[in-house]
Amino acid sequence: MAPAISTIRTVTGMRRRVAQWRNEERKIALVPTMGALHPGHLSLIAKAREKAERVIVSIFVNPTQFGEGEDFDAYPRDEKGDLAKLTEAGVDVAYIPDARQMFAPGFATRVHVKGLTERLCGASRPGHFDGVSTIVTKLLLQCAPDLAIFGEKDYQQLLTIKRMVADLDIPVEILGAPIEREEDGLARSSRNAYLNKRQRELAPLLQRTLQDMAYDLAEGRPVEDATAASAFRLESAGFKVDYLEVVDPETLQPVDGVLSKPARTLVAAYLGKTRLIDNLGVKPKQRNRKRAS
Ligand code: PAF
Repeated sequence: MAPAISTIRTVTGMRRRVAQWRNEERKIALVPTMGALHPGHLSLIAKAREKAERVIVSIFVNPTQFGEGEDFDAYPRDEKGDLAKLTEAGVDVAYIPDARQMFAPGFATRVHVKGLTERLCGASRPGHFDGVSTIVTKLLLQCAPDLAIFGEKDYQQLLTIKRMVADLDIPVEILGAPIEREEDGLARSSRNAYLNKRQRELAPLLQRTLQDMAYDLAEGRPVEDATAASAFRLESAGFKVDYLEVVDPETLQPVDGVLSKPARTLVAAYLGKTRLIDNLGVKPKQRNRKRAS
């Protein structure tokens, strides 16, 4: 049996452990999570283990990234199960600070990344990205890793964190990891646990719609047409589409017309009360260019 994982719950304890690893010249990776670990998280951990000699996984269900009426209270929590998975995955430290460690009395700071955060998930979840950016800044300062890994499922979050780290000169490399999917294509997410049987059967249509849309866009169908048809398909099947957009993969600004360069399709849609997100890279098909005469 793998030895039980070391669990650290205080900022001071975490700093002490990192200082010890630094003395030993170990390369350190951080995988920030909110727990309820699933194979998607385990793939981030596997990548962290490939890249670094010591791996920290943080578990903190961050209240400041949930809006009013969102699922903070209902968010799945399973510390015992998570620790068993982390032990099995060979993680060195589970960092599990509580809210008092993270938000001392008088806490008054917010990190806001302008530009990337106002649209898409930022429009439907006001304050969400400030909550994420603030907590990730704190985790990076507390764990001082060489690298930190985030899933591409939260594509807007990944770009926001990269921007923030560059702007604040935080000395860490931010790596993205590809979306992990169920066998039927549904992106893995802790929130999939909320879906009832009928919704779970319907959920993979989100990914299939993105794939079909990517095909149409590559074939030269204008973005406006492809988007409208795909949104209609999802709504007709029982989704409530929050947004479905084709955007520039770096700036997240909408693109229109026939694709002339790679882009990304991002979607958020509700099945009942459960909000699912997904995304896919899209690119125009290489067409034979006429030779200049
Ligand atoms: O992606 C998540 O699970 C969270 O947004 C993160 C990065 C752990 C910050 O709370």
